[in-house]
Amino acid sequence: MPERDLLLDVRGLKIEFGTGAQGLRVVDDLSFNVRDGETVALVGESGCGKSVTALALAKLIPQPPGRFAGGEVLFGGQNVLSMGEKELRRLRGADISYVFQEPGQSLNPVFRIGWQLREALQIHRPDQATTEEMVRLLKQVGLPDPEQKLRAYPHELSGGMQQRVMIAMALACRPRLLVADEPTTALDVTIQLQILELLKDLQRQLGMAVILITHNLGLVADCAHRVNVMYAGRIVEAGPTEEVLGHPRHPYTRGLLEAVPKLEGSAGHLKGIDGHVPNPARMPSGCKFHPRCPLCAEICREREPADETVREDHIVRCHFWQKGGDS
Ligand SMILES: Nc1ncnc2c1ncn2[C@@H]1O[C@H](COP(=O)(O)OP(=O)(O)O)[C@@H](O)[C@H]1O
Ligand SMILES: [Mg+2]
Repeated sequence: MPERDLLLDVRGLKIEFGTGAQGLRVVDDLSFNVRDGETVALVGESGCGKSVTALALAKLIPQPPGRFAGGEVLFGGQNVLSMGEKELRRLRGADISYVFQEPGQSLNPVFRIGWQLREALQIHRPDQATTEEMVRLLKQVGLPDPEQKLRAYPHELSGGMQQRVMIAMALACRPRLLVADEPTTALDVTIQLQILELLKDLQRQLGMAVILITHNLGLVADCAHRVNVMYAGRIVEAGPTEEVLGHPRHPYTRGLLEAVPKLEGSAGHLKGIDGHVPNPARMPSGCKFHPRCPLCAEICREREPADETVREDHIVRCHFWQKGGDS
């Protein structure tokens, strides 16, 4: 992909919950960026700080209990974290849209799809809140029979169709950045692939940027141009998708790859990684991954690793990134 303009630039972001001495840091020194029109994945197990990071991009973390303790989020060069209500409304209405995991929870069960889609349009593009535009949006997300779907209630649609409606609503404001937070986790496998395929098509057709958030590293291979692997509120490995998946350097990335269920040979066991993501109240010293790491040595307990450049824009945070086979 040709080099494009930076759309989003997150630099050294730190987010805490709670106050004073009780303040728990759940995102620490987190940096990543997204260029216009590209798909960037954020990947990590549950509790790694993916959703908190996603919400921070439009300053959607409730304060309190949340607190931005450092860093910046630049969208089109403007620092989101210092924006006032009016600017934030514009950002959320016209620049950044979200799709979340459970479409059933975001759609209102008592209103027909058409009513809800019209509301979304009315907020963002009131002059185009027409049936024609709603039908166009539903067609765009691949829903058959759009006129009939407008008259349906959410429960009359399958989970996959509900998620397509949510994506249509997110597209209503023509965002420059779509943040999809585990958009397929609640769906079964074949539908997951269809939704990812849809996101990929939309990204290409509309030229918008997408942040794809998932705990399944296998899902990003086909959609994301670049991937950021998160652990304990930090990015531990980042780079072009092929490079990171083909030559993973961090033991955590390798563990996530081994945990990806293989479609063929389903009898094979899931190797994965033993143990759990640390609770922010009991963050390990040094490298946050050391208690679970097969390569752990004294230095890992003592000192947090810094970014190391593997090649070009492939970055890793591990004292032993040069150890362990580069395949
Ligand atoms: N409102 C909140 N108050 C306190 N802690 C929170 C809140 N939201 C998230 N956290 C904590 O932040 C960490 C990251 O959570 P989250 O971003 O939801 O992880 P992920 O999306 O990767 O599963 C977790 O330890 C979680 O308990
Ligand atoms: Mg989450």
